[in-house]
Amino acid sequence: MKKQCLLWTLSLVSPFCSLADEGMWMLPLLKQQRFAQMQALGLKLQDTDIYNPDSTSLKDAVVVFGGGCTGEIISPDGLVLTNHHCGYSQIQRHSSLEHDYLTDGYWAMTRDEELTNPGLSVTFIDRIEDVTTYVRDRLEKDDSTDTNFLSARYLNALAREKAGEQFLKDHPGTEVEIRPFYEGNQYWMFTKKRYSDVRLVGAPPSSIGKFGADTDNWMWPRHTGDFSLFRIYADADGNPAEYSPDNVPLRPKRWLRISTKGIEENDFAMMIGFPGRTNKYYTSWEVAERRDIDNDVRINIRNLRQEAMLEEMLRDPAVRIQYAGKYASSTNAYKNAIGTNRAIRERNFEQLKGEEQNKLIAWARQTNQPEYAESLRMLEQIVSDRRNLRFRNWMLDEALVRGIEFASIPTDIKPVVDALKGKDKEQQREQLRLLTLAWRRFFNASYAPEVDRKIAKIMLREYRRLVPAYDQPAYFALIDKKFKGDADRFIDYLFSTSIFGQSENFSAFLERPSARTLENDPMILFAQSVQDEKKALTTALAAFDADFTLERRTYVGGLLQMYGDQISFPDANSTIRLTYGQKKGYEPRDAVSYRSQTTLDGVMQKEDSTNWEFVVPDRLKELYHARDFGPYRMTDGQMPVAFSATTHTTGGNSGSPVLNAGGELIGINFDRNWEGVGGDIQYLPDYQRSIIVDIRYVLFLIDKYAGAGYLLDELDIAP
Ligand code: ARG
Ligand code: ASP
Repeated sequence: MKKQCLLWTLSLVSPFCSLADEGMWMLPLLKQQRFAQMQALGLKLQDTDIYNPDSTSLKDAVVVFGGGCTGEIISPDGLVLTNHHCGYSQIQRHSSLEHDYLTDGYWAMTRDEELTNPGLSVTFIDRIEDVTTYVRDRLEKDDSTDTNFLSARYLNALAREKAGEQFLKDHPGTEVEIRPFYEGNQYWMFTKKRYSDVRLVGAPPSSIGKFGADTDNWMWPRHTGDFSLFRIYADADGNPAEYSPDNVPLRPKRWLRISTKGIEENDFAMMIGFPGRTNKYYTSWEVAERRDIDNDVRINIRNLRQEAMLEEMLRDPAVRIQYAGKYASSTNAYKNAIGTNRAIRERNFEQLKGEEQNKLIAWARQTNQPEYAESLRMLEQIVSDRRNLRFRNWMLDEALVRGIEFASIPTDIKPVVDALKGKDKEQQREQLRLLTLAWRRFFNASYAPEVDRKIAKIMLREYRRLVPAYDQPAYFALIDKKFKGDADRFIDYLFSTSIFGQSENFSAFLERPSARTLENDPMILFAQSVQDEKKALTTALAAFDADFTLERRTYVGGLLQMYGDQISFPDANSTIRLTYGQKKGYEPRDAVSYRSQTTLDGVMQKEDSTNWEFVVPDRLKELYHARDFGPYRMTDGQMPVAFSATTHTTGGNSGSPVLNAGGELIGINFDRNWEGVGGDIQYLPDYQRSIIVDIRYVLFLIDKYAGAGYLLDELDIAP
C-alpha cells in the first residue's frame, strides 16, 4: 500500500494518498498520520506541544470566532486576533455617520472603551474523542431505517447523553456535539466552551483592512491588513457569562507567543483553524454536476446581477454604500465559482475522481465486495435523475430567491387579512402595526427599490429564457397572459400596483386597508409563488438525498477499507484541523512567477486615490515616506505586508493563526489565490496558496499607525 501511495504521489493522480502539504488533519491523529512529515519539513515541536489531551497545548489558543471564522488568543488577558472581514459586521454595527469606524478604524485606548457585541461568541474546544463505536452501537439499536446517521439532532442528543446532564450543569457554557466524518463512517465528539461577552478592541480603517476590496479578493500578490482585535470577558470565576459591566477579561489556559523574525521562502509554516467545507470525496459525476449546474448557473446569473448593481453603485454614492455588503458577498462566491470551474477543467478533476472510482471497483472485484461498485452505479444514477430538479433549484435560488430582493417581502398576510375581515378594531390596528414593522424590516436603509426593479427585470428575463415555462412558478403564467410575455412591463406593474412597490402605495393602503387589496396584491402573489416553488423543489430533491447519503457512506467506506491507515484526511466540516506546508510563491502562467512576500512598496504601487478600493490613508503614507517601521521591518529594511504558503485551507480558515516551526505566531490567514480555490475538491501542490497577513504588519499598524502601542505590553513577543 505504501509503495503504491508513493507512486501515485509522484504522478500526482491519487486524490486519496495525500500530496505534499495537502490536508486538513485531525489533531488526535496527527502523531500517527503526519508528524514525521512535519518534522521533515522543519517543525521543531513535539506532538504534545500542538495537541495534548491531558494538558494545555497550542490547540487551546485557537477559537471559533463568531459563526464562520477562526481566531487566536494572544494575551493572558483574553485578547483575540482575527480578520477584519471576520469582525466586519461588528465594526459596521458600531459605525454611524458621526463615528464611521468602517472608514476610520477604531481603537479602544482603555479597557472601558472596548465595545460590546451582542450575538458574537468565541468558542474553545476542550476535548476531542473518537466515539465511532458508541455511535455505531446506538445507531444499530435505535435506527433500523438508517436516517439518523448524519442527523445533527440525533447525534447531539447522543452527545448530551454521553456527557451526562450533571456534567453539563456543573460546567456553565459547556456544550457537546458529535459530528460525522467520512460521510458517517467515523464519529468524533467535541466538548466546547462558548463565551458570549466579546468586545471590540480595535480595527484598522477599511482602506487597510479591506485594501484592494473586490478587485484583489482571491488574488495574489496581496496588500491587505486584514485583521481586527477583540477581548473575551468572563465572570469572576472565569466562566462564560452574558455581558455585564462586572465581567473581567478572561484568563485563558493558553495564548500564543509572537515572533517578529518572519520566515524565509520554503520555511515550515502551519495553522490550526476551523475549515468549513470541502468535497475531496466527490465522485466524478458530482464534479461535473458542480461545474455544469451549480457553478455555471451561479456565474451566469451573478455576472448579470453584479453588472447592473455596480452600474447603479457607481452612479449614486448612496447606492454604493447601501449595496457595498451585498455586492461584496455576491462577488466573493462568484469569483470562487469561476476559479473552481477553471481548476476542474484545466486540471481534469473529473478524470481524477473517475480513476479513484475505478481503483475501488477493481479492488472490490478482487476482494469480492460487490456493494462498492453497486454504490457507485447508484450515485451515478441519482446524479443523473436529479439533474433537472437541481438545475431548476439553482436557477430559482440565484435568479429569484437571492437575485430579486422583493422575492423576500413579507408574505405571511393571513393574520392581517383575517383581522381586516373581522370586526375587532383593536385586532386590526395590531395586525397593521405588525405588517408595518415587517415592511420596514424589508424596506430598510440598505434597500433601493429602483435598483431592485432594474435587477429584477434582468433576473426574470434570464430565468424565463433558461427555465421552460412549465417548470416556472405558477404565478408567472400571468406574464404571458396579461403582458404578452413582456417581463419588464410585468415588473413595472408589480412596483406600481403593490402596497410594497413604493412607500406611497403602502401609506395609501394604511389609510384604507382592505383584505381584498392584500389578497390580490401582485407582488405578494409573486413572492408567494417563488416561495412555493422553492418548497416544492426542496421536497423533491430531499427524496433523492436519503439514498444519496447512504450510497456515499458506502462508497467512502469502501475507500477507507481499501486504503486502511493510508487513507487521507476527512473532508472539512467546521471542526478543528491542522494544516502545514511551506512559505512559497508559485507560477500562475507561462513565464510568470510570484514571490511569496509582499511589502508596503506594493501598497504604494497600487495606490489610486480616485478608486475607493485602492485609497491609501495619509498616515500610512507618512510612515512609509519616513520609513518609520520600528522593529517590524525585515532585515532588508522593507516593511512586510503579506505572504503566501502551501497550507491547505478553505472558507472558515480565515483568522487562523499561522505558526512557525517553533509554534510562534507569524501571521493570520485570510484568503486563498484564485488559482487555488479548486482545492476544495482537489489540492494542487503547484498552484494552491493560502494568503496570510504578516504579523509584523499587524504589530506595526497597532503600534505606529494607530498609536495603540499600550496593547503590545500584554503580548508575548519573542525577544
Ligand atoms: N475571499 C475571502 C473569503 O472567502 C475574503 C472575503 C472578504 N472580502 C471581500 N471582498 N468579500 O472569506
Ligand atoms: N476567505 C476565506 C474565509 O473567510 C478563506 C478561504 O476561503 O481561503 O474563511
